[in-house]
Amino acid sequence: MEFLNHLKTYLTDEQIEALNRSLEGESQHALLLNEEKMSQETLLKIYPSLKRHPIIPNAFLYNKNELELGKSVYHELGCFYLQEPSAMLPAFLLKPKEGEIVLDLCAAPGGKSMQASLLMKNTGLIVANDLARTRAYAISENAERMGRGNLLIVNNDFSSIYQHYLNTFDRIILDAPCSGSGMFRKQSEMKDDWSYAKVTKYAEIQKELILYAYKMLKEGGEMVYSTCSFSYEEDEEVVDYLLNNTDATIKQIEVNPLYFVNPNKPLGIHLLPSMFPGEGHYVCLIKKPGELKETNVKLSKSKLSFELPTNGYQVMQKYGGYLYLINKEFNYKYLSIVRNGVKVGQVDKNDIRFDYHYAHFVNEFPNILEINLDELKKYYLGESINKSVSKGYILLKYEGINVDIAKSDGRIVKNRLPKGLRKKLS
Ligand SMILES: C[S@@+](CC[C@H](N)C(=O)[O-])C[C@H]1O[C@@H](n2cnc3c(N)ncnc32)[C@H](O)[C@@H]1O
Repeated sequence: MEFLNHLKTYLTDEQIEALNRSLEGESQHALLLNEEKMSQETLLKIYPSLKRHPIIPNAFLYNKNELELGKSVYHELGCFYLQEPSAMLPAFLLKPKEGEIVLDLCAAPGGKSMQASLLMKNTGLIVANDLARTRAYAISENAERMGRGNLLIVNNDFSSIYQHYLNTFDRIILDAPCSGSGMFRKQSEMKDDWSYAKVTKYAEIQKELILYAYKMLKEGGEMVYSTCSFSYEEDEEVVDYLLNNTDATIKQIEVNPLYFVNPNKPLGIHLLPSMFPGEGHYVCLIKKPGELKETNVKLSKSKLSFELPTNGYQVMQKYGGYLYLINKEFNYKYLSIVRNGVKVGQVDKNDIRFDYHYAHFVNEFPNILEINLDELKKYYLGESINKSVSKGYILLKYEGINVDIAKSDGRIVKNRLPKGLRKKLS
């Protein structure tokens, strides 16, 4: 088969055979825990069959035949993000720090942005971009339920605007579009769709992306380049192209018996399903020489017109009738914005219709109502809650996890869930 043959660029016949055998096996699934919403102890109590991820401390492997986590209440409430286990390595190895400015160039549906945001504890700023607008909306949906506030979600082609963002980012995630051989087990149609022509087509795109992404990296900054392709042409060859055309250097990844390093071109690591419990990824850390200096971002004066819990965020912006809470301002001029920070809600005269995003972001709220599972399920179906609590806004919680901000008229708590979010929870 053409696919197996082309792997001979870096794998021996035995290694190719082992990889091919592993591709016949079952795909691996994992969750990334949002420890702001749920502790590891609670998670393991709810799902005792979970197994620890071999590398990521807040990630767990699960058996999809046993658990349908995508439909669970806890998934809806943003306690975890589902992702295949090897896709969790790029953001983890990049180690974004609190307060930094990060670019996730090809971000949708947002797995790596969510992980970076959790590592940065909702501080700093992550510009999460995707070329496809509908896919950028998916980042927004994930940011809402996961309670992420430090994301500036945009939909741009940076090939035409990167000149305005030279030396701007402390760290960059470039999880490039690729021929997708690392998806063979999860989506078997990818196998039928694979061709060597596809590999070379993507390699060209990746070389363009890595070059202009690197230009946006600050001196002393670090970038992770990753693909879910097993092809040398899309992996080491792309990094080599960057090294040959810029002053970029490689940052070594700590040796681990689960990682495969190409002995003839030791640039980054391959996570092969024959060695690692995941679907397959290539990850390489790149560093720009120099000393990383902190960016001085000027914050506008607080524009809060009324008192609201803000988790320490200082800037309120209003556009399109909605209030947004943001942590760090940015040069927005060239960006097509999908979501900037936290959508607080729709302003109507002196009233505000709080948004689901804000409800999942706040740590505190003046009035709280703890609801039970039955009420939670009914709430997600659009029903109101029959409880007489004092009039006004109320943050609903289930097992201490934020659900939504509803409004009580003193007799019942009216449902405020947007129609698009209504669903049957299991
Ligand atoms: C491998 S997926 C990204 C997965 C994502 N990083 C995650 O962890 O959830 C690649 C993404 O790149 C986007 N894309 C393709 N070409 C692009 C470009 N020139 N600029 C930005 N995004 C691009 C695609 O729409 C796709 O969503």
